Amino acid sequence: MADPIPILDLKPEIDALWPQLQEAIERVVRSGRFILGPEGEAFEGEAAEYLGVKHAVACNSGTDALVIGLRAVGVAPGDEVITTPFTFVATAEAIKLVGATPVFVDIDPNTFNIDTSLIAAAVTPRTKAVVPVHLFGQGADMDAVMNLARERGLKVIEDTAQAFGGLYKQRKLGTIGDVGAYSFFPSKNLGAFGDGGLMTTDDDAVAQAMRMLRCHGSKQRYVHEALGYNSRLDEIQAAVLRVKLPHVDTLNQKRREAAAQYDALLEGLDWITTPVRAPYAQHVFHQYTVRVSLGRDEVHQKLASAGVSTMIYYPIPSHRMGPYSGADGSTPNLPHAEQAAQEVLSLPMGPSLTEKHIERVVGALASV
Ligand SMILES: Cc1ncc(COP(=O)(O)O)c(C=O)c1O
Repeated sequence: MADPIPILDLKPEIDALWPQLQEAIERVVRSGRFILGPEGEAFEGEAAEYLGVKHAVACNSGTDALVIGLRAVGVAPGDEVITTPFTFVATAEAIKLVGATPVFVDIDPNTFNIDTSLIAAAVTPRTKAVVPVHLFGQGADMDAVMNLARERGLKVIEDTAQAFGGLYKQRKLGTIGDVGAYSFFPSKNLGAFGDGGLMTTDDDAVAQAMRMLRCHGSKQRYVHEALGYNSRLDEIQAAVLRVKLPHVDTLNQKRREAAAQYDALLEGLDWITTPVRAPYAQHVFHQYTVRVSLGRDEVHQKLASAGVSTMIYYPIPSHRMGPYSGADGSTPNLPHAEQAAQEVLSLPMGPSLTEKHIERVVGALASV
């Protein structure tokens, strides 16, 4: 059998940059500074410049970026936060972790992102914020989110974990709302060699709150004003990310080219729906996710037997999971999220995916 095709192969990307990566890691180790040092500071500056935002504050993970971002804009116990159920669980988890209640609204079945036409009806006097997620690398409809948020006095935290470098109408995702939250989990479009995250904002006071919260609630050493976290990006990860950041646009472009090739080859398979591009977004294809209307799980299994790894992102929408259903165990009716969970299949994707790989994946699908 031919070599297996993984869902993502990071090795070629790492091999190509290895001399610079090795130098960066060695520089940190020899410096003896591992936490909150010059690499982190330089990375924050370079990330802020790349994204076009006033402040970038690095932290330990995308989950922490959401938690700290929510707290920094004032989300507190008792508040409600409107979000999508069709995402990685960290989105809803972060809302719960700050003591607020996630209020789920259904998704747009075309883009898998929050259906912005449903947000207004979910607003109550307790609503404090909205968390749109730019799922699979494609921006949610941010004009609609921002117009409603400004009208109703709500904060907006963009979950940009899957969409580093993606655009909404020429603006970088994560820089449109009050806070952007990014993840540098190794498989992300900009990935570290461990956990990492970033928060962005144009608001000086919010940035100051983020810096304080990520470091045990302190602005000044051993003076602790708030209950905070130990959530810093370590210097090795910052140095690795500084090497990778200048290449992220090229790598995202390669993902788009792979997606275009998939689109063309999948055209003949009428039981597969390829990803719909929203006119306002430039997709960065963190995932290339299709819909398989019948027998998705069987297709997933058969591809695995043919040596092609695929993933189901996500098999259970957040509102169906224990911690996120109502106090009485009840769940809202969100038919598009439910249907997506039954039908989605993410195919191998990444900047190093070759034309031959894509042909093999589509060939394996066709023979299913
Ligand atoms: C949509 C989304 N939100 C949040 C996160 C959390 O990021 P992390 O794994 O860095 O905590 C992830 C990634 O894992 C994600 O995909």
